[in-house]
Amino acid sequence: MTGATGRVALVTGASSGIGAATAGLLAARGMRVVVNYLRNTKAADEVVAGIEAAGGQAMAVQADVREAAAVESMVEQVQAAWGGIDVLVHNALIPYAVKSFQDMTWEELGGKIDAEMYAAFAVTKAVLPAMSEQGWGRIIYISTGLSRRPRAGMIALGVAKAALEQFARYLAQELGPQGITVNIVAAGPVEDTRMGSALDEEIKQRQVALTPVGRLARPADVAQAVAFYAGEDNAFMTGTTAAVNGGMSMD
Ligand SMILES: NC(=O)c1ccc[n+]([C@@H]2O[C@H](COP(=O)([O-])OP(=O)(O)OC[C@H]3O[C@@H](n4cnc5c(N)ncnc54)[C@H](OP(=O)(O)O)[C@@H]3O)[C@@H](O)[C@H]2O)c1
Repeated sequence: MTGATGRVALVTGASSGIGAATAGLLAARGMRVVVNYLRNTKAADEVVAGIEAAGGQAMAVQADVREAAAVESMVEQVQAAWGGIDVLVHNALIPYAVKSFQDMTWEELGGKIDAEMYAAFAVTKAVLPAMSEQGWGRIIYISTGLSRRPRAGMIALGVAKAALEQFARYLAQELGPQGITVNIVAAGPVEDTRMGSALDEEIKQRQVALTPVGRLARPADVAQAVAFYAGEDNAFMTGTTAAVNGGMSMD
């Protein structure tokens, strides 16, 4: 174990993809990890079992991050077992419509923005009091390069994540004096995720061709950036965005 801290990290949406890889890496770095999930108990239990088999500590907790009461009860459960949450990685994937603006209804666009922001609001509100009280915290939101660079059909995701990113910057400003850093990890297309697996092979190859590193991201690549921000000694970076895209865009 490197840099074992005993810090408690909550990773939302950790039964699959980026969240699962992040939970594993933070546990390997000595954190006790809460593996939050929505429906897939078996997958969440497997993530926990993998962490425990490697000598780490983890617990799976089901909670819909779109419901404040469920989030609060999850945080209370963690507090009872392990004390307050020190690190929040908000990663859960809120579903969205993939279509053009002309085909999109307000329910689809507004619904995604509302659910994305409500979930971020609820999980952040639930973990903040303990972080604030101890004067130390790390908050990392998982976003996408599509918040800055439009791609056909991705308006709902891109607009919702752009709102999430500005929310993060405002929090960074407000929470800096309390020893809490807030950062964003913005990934390019990630293989071995539900969205990544749904990508058409031709589109995938086109994206690889645009990527200097010569492949798509893997969940482990994104986890590395999250772990960097979550680090005990990483105290002076806040309000920043790490692009994990193999050089696909360099803005
Ligand atoms: N995949 C990409 O190419 C890509 C690129 C850039 C950014 N991202 C971002 O990375 C994050 C993770 O995406 P991913 O592709 O790794 O996702 P994924 O493999 O589809 O996994 C999604 C995770 O979120 C959980 N989840 C979904 N709705 C939830 C809810 N309401 N409450 C709690 N948990 C919920 C799922 O739990 P269950 O398994 O129990 O349903 C699962 O653990 C998202 O924020 C996404 O926008 C992804």
